[in-house]
Amino acid sequence: MKQNFLKYQAQTSPHPLGLEISHAKGSYIYDIENNAHLDFVAGVSATPLGHNHPKIIHAIKNQLDKYMHVMVYGEYVQKPSVELSKLLAQNLPEPLEQTYLTNSGTEAIEGALKLAKRATGRSEIISAKNAYHGNTMGSMSVMGYEERKQAFRPLLPNINFIEFNNLDDLNKITTKTACVILETIQGGAGFIVPKNNYLKAVKKRCSEVDALLILDEIQPGFGRTGKLFGFEHYSCIPDILVTGKALGGGMPIGAFTASKELMLLLQDNPKLGHITTFGGHPVIAASALATLKEITETNLINETLEKEKLFRKLLIHPLIKEIRGIGLMLALIMPTPEITNQLILKCKEKGLILFWLLFEPKAVRITPPLTISRPEIEQGCKIILSILNKIES
Ligand SMILES: Cc1ncc(COP(=O)(O)O)c(C=O)c1O
Repeated sequence: MKQNFLKYQAQTSPHPLGLEISHAKGSYIYDIENNAHLDFVAGVSATPLGHNHPKIIHAIKNQLDKYMHVMVYGEYVQKPSVELSKLLAQNLPEPLEQTYLTNSGTEAIEGALKLAKRATGRSEIISAKNAYHGNTMGSMSVMGYEERKQAFRPLLPNINFIEFNNLDDLNKITTKTACVILETIQGGAGFIVPKNNYLKAVKKRCSEVDALLILDEIQPGFGRTGKLFGFEHYSCIPDILVTGKALGGGMPIGAFTASKELMLLLQDNPKLGHITTFGGHPVIAASALATLKEITETNLINETLEKEKLFRKLLIHPLIKEIRGIGLMLALIMPTPEITNQLILKCKEKGLILFWLLFEPKAVRITPPLTISRPEIEQGCKIILSILNKIES
C-alpha cells in the first residue's frame, strides 16, 4: 500500500510520516500491523471527540439511510444543515446569527473575504504576519509567510500585513480597509495567543473606520481552548466568524457566520454571492451536529483546562524551553528544529503521534482529542520525556 501511496497519490512533502492505517478508535490510531498509536494531534485539531465516536457514527449512518447529496447549497430545506446552523447561532453571541456551510476551512475564508468586500465596497484586506488561513488563492494571499506563496504570485492585490499583538500597527487599519482578518490564536506561527487586550483594540479600531473584523477560529474553535470559541477569552466578538476542522467531528467542513444583515448581501448584487455544490452536505452536517451537541452538552470544555494543567505539570524537561498555547492547543518549543524533528520521529516509533507547526520549526504540536483521558496523557508524556532523556545524553 505504501508503494502505491508514493506512486499514485500526489505528494507535497518529501518525507510524509507514511503511517499505514488500519483503523482508529478513541485516542488511538492502529496501523496495518495492529500497533496502537496514541494520537496527540487529532488530525490537526479536526477530531475533537477522538476517532469513530459512537454518537458521530450513529448520526452519519442514520443520515446515510435517509439521503445524501440532493441539491447545491441553499436551495432545499435539509434538516441536518438547518439544525446545525441553528445550534451554532444558539451558542454564539449577537449579532452572529446566520451561517454559510462550506466544504473546507479555506473555502469559508474565501466566503468571508468576499462578504467583507461586498459589505464595505472596499478592497484592502489587512492580515497578520505569520498568519495561516488556508491554501486556495484568496486564503493564500492573506497568508503572512512570503516564502510559501512567492511561487504562486500574482495573488490578490491590496493585501497589507500587520504584526500580531502590536498595538502600534493598528493605525494601518484605515477607511480604505474592507476587513482585518486574524486567527484568534495564531496557529502556524507557533500558537501565539493575543496579549494586552489586543483583539479588543483591533475591534475598536475596525469600528472607528467601519472595517469588518474576521476572526479565524478554524483551529481554536469548538472547545479546544477551554471555551467553545477562543474569542470568548478576549472579550472581542468578530463581525464574521470562520470555523472548520473540529466542527465536522472528522468530516470535511468549514463555515462562516455573521449577522443576518451582512449575510443578506450574498443574495443580491450579485445574487448567489457565494456558490458551492456540496457545502452543507447532509451527512457531514449530521456529523457536525452530533459533534457540536456532544461538545456543548457534556463537561468536555471544562475538562480541557484541567488537561492542560496536567500536560504542563508533566512536561517539564530542560529541552522543553516553553509550552505555548492554551487548553489542548499546546506547542512545545524545543531548542532547535533538529531536536523537534528527532522528538517527533522517535515518538512515532514508540507509538505516540506528534506533529510540526507550519511556520515555527522549533515547535511540536500537541492537540489531542478533547476526549483524551488522564492516563492517556500520562502515557504520552512519559514517552516524550523518555525520548528527550535520550536526546539529551
Ligand atoms: C487557522 C486556519 N485557517 C484555515 C485553515 C484551512 O482549513 P482547511 O485546511 O480545512 O482548508 C487552517 C487549516 O489548517 C487553519 O489552521
